[in-house]
Amino acid sequence: MARWHTAPASRLLLHDASTALPPLQVHRRLAAFNRKRLLPTFEEPCWPEALNEEIELRSLEARFVHAERTAIAPRLSDLPTDAPGFMDWFHALKDNGPGQGDALFAWLATDATIDQMRWFLRQEAAGEAGFDDLVALTQVRFPSRPKLEMANNYWDEMGRGRESGMHGPMLERTTQALDLRPSVETTAWESLALANLMVALAANRHLAYQSVGALGAIEMTAPGRVSKVNEGMRRLGLPAEVRRYFQLHAGLDVRHSLAWNREVIEPLVAADPNAARPIAEGALLRLAAGARCFERYRRDLKLTTSTATAVPHDEMDCDTRRVAA
Ligand SMILES: [Fe+2]
Ligand SMILES: [Fe+2]
Repeated sequence: MARWHTAPASRLLLHDASTALPPLQVHRRLAAFNRKRLLPTFEEPCWPEALNEEIELRSLEARFVHAERTAIAPRLSDLPTDAPGFMDWFHALKDNGPGQGDALFAWLATDATIDQMRWFLRQEAAGEAGFDDLVALTQVRFPSRPKLEMANNYWDEMGRGRESGMHGPMLERTTQALDLRPSVETTAWESLALANLMVALAANRHLAYQSVGALGAIEMTAPGRVSKVNEGMRRLGLPAEVRRYFQLHAGLDVRHSLAWNREVIEPLVAADPNAARPIAEGALLRLAAGARCFERYRRDLKLTTSTATAVPHDEMDCDTRRVAA
């Protein structure tokens, strides 16, 4: 019998030989694992052996998520746990959350060249975790009211039953039109880490509340960002069909965010104050991972402006969303 059946998580993690891997290697491995983990396949010919590999990769995932949680923990020290107080705290993330007001997006709107815009979009597309599947994974066994709103959000992701309106394929059409050919090999580890984080939260039931918070943070912070991306793409002469994904989310996610906060987050916290902390944690984890991407993008794109110095919040209702929700 393999040792992992009975070993406590801490021991598994301590004995994980992959812990010394550099971030690029960690996130490439996790990206490959997550692709395999979620893709429908036929029979697994060596299931027991595959489980051994899975436990190694899930251990790697656990270490990654643990490190991310540790980094944002100080921001959770004075968290309100009553529903009205918590919702005020959550809404404020739009202004004071990690990565908010990042100068990257104003620059994309007004200054980026077509090559720079394509580079940015390739990074984003390669690390896209698939909001539709994240919602589908997250909603399992939640109470009716939040589940209904997650279903409603998912149905929007599905184009309300029209293939041409599905959000995932809509983004794919953008990548095809711009010949972006996104791949793990050409993607910054920060971008892979963002997708790996979202899958970790959605695929592990003990992180389901964190996933609720992370998805809510995406909806709340997406519109400002995607509107800037859309503005930049329009300035560069890209047609409406190529920009459609961004144009759509600039408006739709405002509505999604209001509904998610009202129908998912608030009722969960009102029903059980213990939900406040993991939801807040998920939101902060997602925003911090997004902020890390922006910093990397600014560095690679050779922007000299830093976060929140060039773009006042009243000018840019910014977001840290990967692309949109
Ligand atoms: Fe959305
Ligand atoms: Fe969407």
